[in-house]
Amino acid sequence: MPPAQRADGPSVRVRAPSKVNLYLAVGDVREDGYHDLVTVFHALDLADELTVAPSRRYTVRCTPPDGVPPGAKNLAGVAVRLLARRAKAGGPVAIDIAKQIPVAGGMAGGSADAAAALVGCAALWELDLDRRALTEIAREIGADVPFALSGGTALGTGRGDLLSPVMTRARLHWVLAIAESGLSTPAVFAELDRLREQGSPPRVKPVDTMLAALASGEPAKVAAALGNDLQVAAVSLQPELRRTLRAGEAAGALGGVISGSGPTVAFLCADAESAGAVAAELAGSGTCRSVRVAAGPAPGARVVPTGR
Ligand code: C5P
Repeated sequence: MPPAQRADGPSVRVRAPSKVNLYLAVGDVREDGYHDLVTVFHALDLADELTVAPSRRYTVRCTPPDGVPPGAKNLAGVAVRLLARRAKAGGPVAIDIAKQIPVAGGMAGGSADAAAALVGCAALWELDLDRRALTEIAREIGADVPFALSGGTALGTGRGDLLSPVMTRARLHWVLAIAESGLSTPAVFAELDRLREQGSPPRVKPVDTMLAALASGEPAKVAAALGNDLQVAAVSLQPELRRTLRAGEAAGALGGVISGSGPTVAFLCADAESAGAVAAELAGSGTCRSVRVAAGPAPGARVVPTGR
């Protein structure tokens, strides 16, 4: 029997990372509508923080609220209800999201919130679930949610949800160029399908070069191996991203790539100092709404000890 929910119990705080795809090869559309992927996920310390507390009814509140689906449509809300059904435990919770990850930016912010909600409620309800069981539930919520649980650097296959860790000694420093408006993931995949029907847009090289670059730990080698099949589709939908990509490289980044389905552009820099300089120059270039610096790999969704 699961322990009874504490009516006035303490809340749980959870931090969940954003991600960039260092490498993303998109294969054919499958019968379930998803595309087969080979991708290298890399978690960044640009993170959302969730607070989960017992409540009389389910609520999801996000600060700032811009563009984030409210209530039951929010992936964190979806995650909590699914966990309660699967574990046959728990009860209504109030979720507060302190949002740092750009919304609709290709950095898996919604998936991070879902992963954080799973970890937070599992702790709040004192569930006896191991990471594997939690990962199975995460896969039902969305293709990127298992990685938000695991963090680090990982190779993703299938829909991107079958993960194996990637060995790397690299500590990578990034500048993120956040666009004026978001892109819908299904729309970007559909645009790639359309472009492929019309011709043969460029495809990324085999993943081995990226894996070797990560094993070497050298940022310049990782930068040379960055690649994303979705980039051509994101740029087709938001042509101004070309200017952003050029601006970051002109500012001194080792390389740039659109993160996931975009439109955030991730620029890899030689070190933290270089990232600071690139961020300052990019911020003044007028080619994006805002810039952030971040580093990876970062850990997956985890409870923040109280008092921190
Ligand atoms: O799993 P998730 O809800 O994050 O995926 C959003 C959408 O992105 C899917 O409905 C699908 O259109 C597209 N997608 C895809 N192939 C993948 C992952 C996502 O086509 N491997």
